[in-house]
Amino acid sequence: MEEVERTLLMIKPDAVQRGLIGEIISRIEQKGLKIIALRMMSVDEQTAGRLYAEHVHKPFFSSLVDFIMSGLIVVMVIEGRNAVSVVRGMVGATDPSKAAPNTIRGNFGFSITQNIAHASDSLESAKREISIFFGESELIE
Ligand code: CMP
Repeated sequence: MEEVERTLLMIKPDAVQRGLIGEIISRIEQKGLKIIALRMMSVDEQTAGRLYAEHVHKPFFSSLVDFIMSGLIVVMVIEGRNAVSVVRGMVGATDPSKAAPNTIRGNFGFSITQNIAHASDSLESAKREISIFFGESELIE
């Protein structure tokens, strides 16, 4: 079923540091998706813990949290038809060495921890992740 959805896209510290913000936003715009909220910020430990709560018992949890706190990130809410799967597809596989060519991770990443960007993996995750970063009143109608 095709529906207008909202999803969260996060540009991670490695991509911000490498000057890839414009490139990534440009892809979203060129695809025709709508950005309805956008912020550059740093992540504190509490926010990192909420964001990655499902990974708390994984061996890579602490490196994940350290990395996301290591520099500025850009978070945005994207709206469009089937936005969750469309943006996920544009970001590419979690492991950039396996991500398809012409995806964001496929083109720009190589490390599984420092993997350029994150996109929500389901509508449920999108709702949860959006609420970590944005209040309802910050989403442009
Ligand atoms: P992200 O989409 O932000 O969601 C969780 C992150 O955990 C993922 O990107 C990767 O950066 C990281 N991750 C997932 N699996 C592994 C792994 N096997 N080793 C290290 N990091 C991982």
